[in-house]
Amino acid sequence: TGLHSLFVSTGKLYFGTATETNNFDDATYQNILSNPLEFGQQTPENSQKWGLIQPNPGGFTFNASDQVASLSESYGHVLRCHTLTWHSQLPPFVSSTAWTPDTLRQLITTHITSVISHFSSSCYAWDVVNEALNENGTFRNSVFFDVLGEEYISLSFKVASEVAPPETKLYYNDFNLETAPAKQTAAVDLVKSLQARGVRIDGVGLQAHFTVGQTPSVESLITTLRRFTDLGVDVAWTELDVSHEDVENASELAVEQQAKDYVAAVRACVEVDRCVGVTVWQFTDKYSWVPGTFPGKGGACLWTEDYQRKPAYWAVKGFL
Ligand code: XIL
Repeated sequence: TGLHSLFVSTGKLYFGTATETNNFDDATYQNILSNPLEFGQQTPENSQKWGLIQPNPGGFTFNASDQVASLSESYGHVLRCHTLTWHSQLPPFVSSTAWTPDTLRQLITTHITSVISHFSSSCYAWDVVNEALNENGTFRNSVFFDVLGEEYISLSFKVASEVAPPETKLYYNDFNLETAPAKQTAAVDLVKSLQARGVRIDGVGLQAHFTVGQTPSVESLITTLRRFTDLGVDVAWTELDVSHEDVENASELAVEQQAKDYVAAVRACVEVDRCVGVTVWQFTDKYSWVPGTFPGKGGACLWTEDYQRKPAYWAVKGFL
């Protein structure tokens, strides 16, 4: 047995991981990723982001993301596609042009249409809009918000729903929805406002980038997930990892706490009917984004840098 096979036996769709093409020639990585008992889903960690997929106006570069998609297909994995309208990892031509509302609408429409059409039915879901909210519940400033206001969000979903195959799930995805009450409420309101306008939204992705000992309780996680599923949308943990605040000095106790935190997340998903799956944001510390982005933090994954399964892995497996 493994994480995916056990998770699926609780009625869920997938247990998966973020991957990237520069991991693929690592034989040990490949060996674990290809084990159908452990993983049943992939998300391209970077290769579908705007800066990588349309670095120049109209110049689409699908090579890397196609490799993730085809590997995913050959392993029989569900592919979560990530992401279309996001303020980060934008190419200079997007972030530095003086857009008018009309030219920016056109840009978003062309981007979403081209990218969704390219992958067509290979995407189980798309993170259509990523990280539109601030912790205090206001909308984040970005090239999109500054020119179009909230309209960029409904526009993105509208275009996606017109282009994507009808079975493709269209998600709003964000972080700290689990821990920042105002942000959580704003995300609930965002879903409601799209629904009220007749704009299709099928799911909310909660990134679940947690810190050891600061992960909400399983009860709190369940309450959070249900706030969204009560609106009639699916939910998923889309980027789960649990970082040590100070990885160099992580105690035995912290290692045990990390295991409990991972179990809380997985258990909450099991308990909530419309939680479809869990994606870890890389499964080995060797490729985790955490140390590079948050200096001092790390050790966030289920496997160590040298591919040993951690107590957190065994705890999740034991729970399942
Ligand atoms: C991260 C990647 O893991 C890094 O490799 C990259 O340098 C920056 O982006 N929220 C998201 C993900 O939605 O796309 C981010 O991924 C992590 C935070």
